[in-house]
Amino acid sequence: MTFVITSACIDVKDGACQKVCPVDCIYEGGRMMYIQPDECIDCNMCVPACPVKAIYRDSEMPGEEELFLTANAEFFGENVTGWGSPGGTDPEHVSKLDSPLVRDFAVKKS
Ligand code: F3S
Repeated sequence: MTFVITSACIDVKDGACQKVCPVDCIYEGGRMMYIQPDECIDCNMCVPACPVKAIYRDSEMPGEEELFLTANAEFFGENVTGWGSPGGTDPEHVSKLDSPLVRDFAVKKS
């Protein structure tokens, strides 16, 4: 089980989720934050903290957001950051990179 950040975070990156995460498993990418699925302890603290309701439990994701389960995992893999499981975010684990799905996600119109 893990929680997953979805499309509403793209180009918003409010950051409130990172502040409340007790294990620092939420990492900053270029356009959004990503939850490291192996480090997430399923505590649910991040869900109510997000002002745009971008975070879901993996088993409760709306169908159109399910691709973000892969996008969150891919961010840590060899094809994006190569970080694997860093064990907690810190200044060395901030990236301008994104998973392909997020990198190519259309810019939202306001
Ligand atoms: Fe994004 Fe919401 Fe966190 S906008 S950075 S998931 S608080």
